[in-house]
Amino acid sequence: MDLYEYQARDLFESYGVPVLAGIIADTPAEAKAAAEKIGGTVVVKAQVKAGGRGKAGGVKVVHNPDDAATAAEAILGLVIKGLTVKRVMVAQGARIAQEFYFSILLDRANRSYLSLCSVEGGMEIEELAVERPDALAKVEVNPILGIDLEKAKEIALAGGFPADLVEKVAPVIVKLYEVYTGEDATLVEVNPLVLTEDGQVLALDGKVTLDENAGFRHPNHEALEDKDAADPLEAKAKANDLNYVKLDGEVGIIGNGAGLVMSTLDVVSYAGERHGGVKPANFLDIGGGASAEVMANGLDVILGDAQVKSVFVNVFGGITACDAVANGIVQALEILGDSATKPLVVRLDGNKVEEGRAILRAANNPLVTLADTMDDGADKAAELASR
Ligand SMILES: Nc1ncnc2c1ncn2[C@@H]1O[C@H](COP(=O)(O)OP(=O)(O)OP(=O)(O)O)[C@@H](O)[C@H]1O
Ligand SMILES: [Mg+2]
Repeated sequence: MDLYEYQARDLFESYGVPVLAGIIADTPAEAKAAAEKIGGTVVVKAQVKAGGRGKAGGVKVVHNPDDAATAAEAILGLVIKGLTVKRVMVAQGARIAQEFYFSILLDRANRSYLSLCSVEGGMEIEELAVERPDALAKVEVNPILGIDLEKAKEIALAGGFPADLVEKVAPVIVKLYEVYTGEDATLVEVNPLVLTEDGQVLALDGKVTLDENAGFRHPNHEALEDKDAADPLEAKAKANDLNYVKLDGEVGIIGNGAGLVMSTLDVVSYAGERHGGVKPANFLDIGGGASAEVMANGLDVILGDAQVKSVFVNVFGGITACDAVANGIVQALEILGDSATKPLVVRLDGNKVEEGRAILRAANNPLVTLADTMDDGADKAAELASR
């Protein structure tokens, strides 16, 4: 889960990372009140989960509360990288002497943590990484050892900081690492980390990604979730504990086991090339226990997707035998009643396949077509979707 800048700011503050005052505002009037409260120069900043806000006109420096209202008026409703700005943060203005870059992230490929650091921050770090990769230090961080003051100095030195700045920046790096591990984050990025004219080091922008798999350790993380922004189908699936990812196509997919579902997506994509270019509409893994309830919940989510034209149920019976899955499908269609209107292609194989097929044949639901193989099923489902 990605956090908004203001949420990252609050988190930083709670860990003792030096930040400036920031107040959230949903209207120009609230932005004006926030600017009055903070006083002096403030920066009105679009709160969207995307980079490049400044370049898109989403960051404005103003010197009085009326101008803060005007800036908020201009920024609210702006579309940045496809995301509409619904809130701004009014932040205390800093007198910046220098801008730096620091991040720490989970390096999956190397099963380690990686820290990126540069004395040249502020601008698009992706550009710096491409044009002058040497200016962006990449320092591996051993997850067991973490970042202590000594390691933080090593990182800053590698990032090109001169000795006096290394001393100033290193304690902030240690604190940012505490945020990273303390919150089970997979990314903590500060761009810019700045040195002010009066010699303070401050985190002026923050991007934090939290590991949702660690959510059970952090009951406070749920409140950080932006329920409005989530895809409604994904939100519904999540509420039902389903492993669902919305995609762009027309063929709804249900399978058991992530590997089987992934290969079903491939097979349906190939089949779709023969049928007008239809594609899979989603990933949905109903896991081991394909009970009627789970099947009904899964079908309900998929049928709720207006783009879906047909559904391919691809199940390999293992611990959950095919007869149980077939009963699940039959009962799910009963539960859904009239809301189930789209054709279903079902391919069963494995444990108790004959019993499962017999159950579906006996139920004789006009929406259901049985397929013998995965390829046949994919082809049939793609054909139905292309009609
Ligand atoms: N509180 C502040 N006081 C003074 N200047 C600021 C402040 N916050 C941001 N700025 C200036 O605005 C620039 C852009 O701000 P920020 O980094 O928050 O947004 P961005 O980089 O455009 O967005 P993103 O990080 O999403 O790409 C900073 O590099 C800094 O120069
Ligand atoms: Mg930034």
